[in-house]
Amino acid sequence: MTKTLSQISTIESLRSAVREAKSNGRKVALVPTMGYLHEGHLSLVEEASKQADFVVVSIFVNPLQFGENEDLANYPRDLDHDLRLLSASGHCDVAFTPSVEEMYPVPLVTTVQLPSMASKLCGRTRPIHFAGVATVVTKLFQIVQPDVACFGQKDGQQLAVIRRMVKDLNMPVNVVGVPTVREEDGLAKSSRNVYLSKEEREHAPVLYQALSWAKAEIERGQRDATEIVRGVRERIEQDSIARLDYVEAVEMDTLESVSVLSGDVMIAVAAYFGKARLIDNIQLHVE
Ligand code: PAJ
Repeated sequence: MTKTLSQISTIESLRSAVREAKSNGRKVALVPTMGYLHEGHLSLVEEASKQADFVVVSIFVNPLQFGENEDLANYPRDLDHDLRLLSASGHCDVAFTPSVEEMYPVPLVTTVQLPSMASKLCGRTRPIHFAGVATVVTKLFQIVQPDVACFGQKDGQQLAVIRRMVKDLNMPVNVVGVPTVREEDGLAKSSRNVYLSKEEREHAPVLYQALSWAKAEIERGQRDATEIVRGVRERIEQDSIARLDYVEAVEMDTLESVSVLSGDVMIAVAAYFGKARLIDNIQLHVE
């Protein structure tokens, strides 16, 4: 059934809309976003509408998760376009669009920290990022009280952090990970792809090409993580534009580095293309 979209900007009205939905026996799903929506976000919204009856998509560029030298001021925004996309999707009941003042009326004294997971991978260059994500997602969970929340596998470390936070703090939310949506040439869709010049855009698929090589090697039986990491690194370093930040093979649950691939693992990469820092990963269950 095609849904009719409402936009709600205050916590109080959002709570009353959710309360009404729940009192009608409807299961509630949340899709947290920072807007500038693309097909990756929309696949989360579609999955949410399969998982639940009442779908809330939050659009909030969260200052807490941006470092001082990061792109908070320039982060791309187009609320009208986002609302049109959500409305056209027919899968979203409420776009929750709070202001910064609504979410952070006073400076926070309480935050959610996961130092051992937040300091790994992207945490090395973005030391405050995952505490900012965990804190805002906790606030959104408290505000919306969803039964289900959908997150993209594209942000693999974020998905692992949220899963662990929900487990550690007994949050009554079922976290669903949704596969990465890609451009035709394999580049993972991202709001930050708009930062790429034409030339950088042409080179950016090297990340996915390197990860696809890794996936094929693992499927062929390679279990030595060091060999996989070396092969991925070589492929990205051979590109004339990419500047590699990291390649790592980690255990999905803890984000600890692994030397042997077994169980739920992630091969994660980050690289700069000009000013843009792109991330990508593959997540595999290895027997
Ligand atoms: P944002 O970057 O807007 O992403 C919102 C959600 O969309 C995340 O769960 C992300 O993993 C997912 N997503 C982005 N690109 C995707 C793609 N190509 N395929 C599938 N899913 C994709 O991630 C954030 O916002 C924020 O950190 C947030 C969780 C909202 C907290 O502020």
